[in-house]
Amino acid sequence: MTAQRIDGKAIAQSIRTQLKEKVTARKEAGQRAPGLAVILVGADPASQVYVGSKRRACEEVGFLSRSYDLDSSTSEEELLALIDECNNDSSIDGILVQLPLPKHIEESKVIERIRPDKDVDGFHPYNVGRLAQRIPVLRSCTPMGIMTLIKSTGVDTFGLDAIVVGASNIVGRPMTLELLLAGCTTTTCHRFTRNLEQKVRQADLVVVAVGKPGFIPGDWIKPGALVIDVGINRLEDGSLVGDVQYDVAAENAAFITPVPGGVGPMTIASLLENTLYAAETYHD
Ligand code: GUN
Repeated sequence: MTAQRIDGKAIAQSIRTQLKEKVTARKEAGQRAPGLAVILVGADPASQVYVGSKRRACEEVGFLSRSYDLDSSTSEEELLALIDECNNDSSIDGILVQLPLPKHIEESKVIERIRPDKDVDGFHPYNVGRLAQRIPVLRSCTPMGIMTLIKSTGVDTFGLDAIVVGASNIVGRPMTLELLLAGCTTTTCHRFTRNLEQKVRQADLVVVAVGKPGFIPGDWIKPGALVIDVGINRLEDGSLVGDVQYDVAAENAAFITPVPGGVGPMTIASLLENTLYAAETYHD
């Protein structure tokens, strides 16, 4: 079997086009544009690239984009004060603080300071808790984007054996909650997991988010499985590869996401969707 490639770039672009139309309609009806504040602390090169893409996407669909670039020496108190300011600003529907933060700032404190109705990253315990209780509102962007990709395949997720490799707060944990909500039987793997190979080999749906090039050998993939690769790893020759050995995995899988052009563009599309959702649901 040769897998069908899931074209995340095209799906994300179509979401962005639809959002742009909705924003235009809002403006024509005299409503304000949704507003997103993007906060970057420090100068981590990867974070700068991600934040730049988020801000551009925001402007492209016609949102108000508010940018804050803070020095790496910014204190926790100063960052919390800026969040309070955005929390109280009625032109801002969503607040995104790019992670990771410098070590002297406690991430959970920052995430919990963002008003849950402006938490367009879906990281606040309120929003993660809503997802855990099957009443999602603002959902974490990468897992949300992945669910959109899975839906695009037409595969019925109810009863599938799904494995999530990686248990981070940003991807793995909310991903497991999404798949559980979609009717999968879920297994979450992490650095202490035993017999990873045996677990991956049994899975109908595999999501990998570990950040290690080629971490999952392609021959572990069950024939007909659906493979979602969240990893974006730059090799010494400058090329980008995922966490799954793509060529061999694509011979076994029914559907697979490429890197780049798979999950990556969906994270931003979901962020934009969440920002419009926050405006319409909470702030209009
Ligand atoms: N760092 C890596 N991914 C993300 C994300 O989706 N949101 C934020 N805020 N930081 C990140």
